[in-house]
Amino acid sequence: MDYNRRKFISFMGKASLASLVLPQFLMSCGNTANPTKGFNTISDERLQELQNLILEGITASDKDDLLLTKGLDYHTILKWGDKISDTDTFGFNNDYTCFIPFDDTNPKDGLLWVNHEYINPLFVSGFDENIENKLPKSKEQVDKEMYNVGGTIVRIKEENGVWKVVKNDPHNRRITAQTDIALNWDTPIKGKNSVKGTLANCSGGITPWKTFITCEENYDGFWGETIYDENNAESHVNSDYGWENFYDYPPEHYGWVVEVNPKDGTAQKHIALGRFAHECCTLYELEDKRVVAYTGDDHNDEHLYKFISSKPGSLKEGTLYVADTINGKWLALDWENQPILKSNFKDQTEVLIRAREASKLIGATQLNRPEDIEIDPITGNIFITLTNNKPKGDFHGSILKIEEKNGAFDALTFKASTYIAGGEENGFSCPDNLAFDMSGNLWITTDMSGSAMNRADKPYMPFKNNSLFVIPRHGKEAGKVIRVASAPRDAELTGPWFSPDGKTLFLSVQHPGEQTKDVKNPTSTWPFDTDNIPKSAVVAITGDLIEKMNRLNMIEA
Ligand code: FEO
Ligand code: CA
Ligand code: CA
Repeated sequence: MDYNRRKFISFMGKASLASLVLPQFLMSCGNTANPTKGFNTISDERLQELQNLILEGITASDKDDLLLTKGLDYHTILKWGDKISDTDTFGFNNDYTCFIPFDDTNPKDGLLWVNHEYINPLFVSGFDENIENKLPKSKEQVDKEMYNVGGTIVRIKEENGVWKVVKNDPHNRRITAQTDIALNWDTPIKGKNSVKGTLANCSGGITPWKTFITCEENYDGFWGETIYDENNAESHVNSDYGWENFYDYPPEHYGWVVEVNPKDGTAQKHIALGRFAHECCTLYELEDKRVVAYTGDDHNDEHLYKFISSKPGSLKEGTLYVADTINGKWLALDWENQPILKSNFKDQTEVLIRAREASKLIGATQLNRPEDIEIDPITGNIFITLTNNKPKGDFHGSILKIEEKNGAFDALTFKASTYIAGGEENGFSCPDNLAFDMSGNLWITTDMSGSAMNRADKPYMPFKNNSLFVIPRHGKEAGKVIRVASAPRDAELTGPWFSPDGKTLFLSVQHPGEQTKDVKNPTSTWPFDTDNIPKSAVVAITGDLIEKMNRLNMIEA
């Protein structure tokens, strides 16, 4: 039996033909979902292969190791402190990864971007916040901390199945909390058109024109935050790290979506996409080359946003919308046309800087911490992890599905539903990052906090360590949540990204040993270096299972 196009379309249910035509951008850019062929037929042989795939999961574990299911292997590409050149080292707490090959015909040589989200002062600067009567943090300590956040660009190459850094390649560089970054906006912010640094870089994205996107999430931990009283008078809330005691960099310069040019490291902050705790930013290019960008605010009771550009390739000209998921509407954060915004803020720039407040004024829906966002390459639906909202009693989170009206990414109405909920029944808790592979299988990483994992008095006990799961799309296990990797102690697995040939899954192992109080007695020693210091690292996961899952592509030309 041939699974022809008509049958395939009906199998996918209500999705329109337009949404089934594979987006050119997803096809070509090496996004986390990058199917390489059009929708057409599937052979008997392929269907048989699908039915026969045996995907064995692993059970939950609290072991201090990166455990993988049968058919997967890993090797470490880069870990904290590794030299990328004679002058620069890999930063701390690596998160989002994104690989862009130099040449579409060679998937094994290109540039890897890695986010460095935050630092643990105990390891990075030696500042121990647990010591009573401690000395204040010094400028030298702050400078070390500032160097270890931001991002890394590094050339990597695969030879004989092993990915290695090309040390001292001219592309290798660090972007840190002290790098000059332009603002892509006409109105200066706190008097500046160019600001210092990026930080809190959690997840990100890729542009259709193949540049890296890195998102500033919990910036208030570094520079504090500006708050306003009922008379709109400003005051400053101090940061945890205390950097503002040494540098006069205002909080308004952070909390943005940042674009980095892989070739030369130049960067710009896209003010039009709003200021909040951006987890990620997922871009889609429309046929007329205008851009749609989805981005969520990872904070209890905050919102989901969508920017639609009015000009081709622009992340400046256009409108930012925020989701009303109850009524299925995208609401415009448009000062000019929303009287309530006009009466509360002085201009569009202020609306964007104070996007959270503006969103609430126009009736946006408060969500349970929107994290990663991915576009299903098969249906064009948008999947958003809602990781949890503990004060509201949501301990295990869920995945939200958005179906834009008629499958049009620039639609202003949509349908929202829960795709799957976390919890014991489905075997996972606190979904964070997502990635679709070439066959449309959905890979999920979890982020239960280190202070709550493996504790009998917390609801996370049954799940043990954070893990990587996959929900197969086809075959006997379709729709089941299968645990395929378990993280070292206190760590989370983040930043899943498939290589363009689908044979490697790049993955960050972030903050092993985060609960350590004494560096001589760490809670984890992964990746088992001789110094016994736990280190975040980017690993390459390869093996038969990944190849089989990607080969099980029901979409053949
Ligand atoms: Fe940095 Fe929302 O995770
Ligand atoms: Ca995250
Ligand atoms: Ca998280």
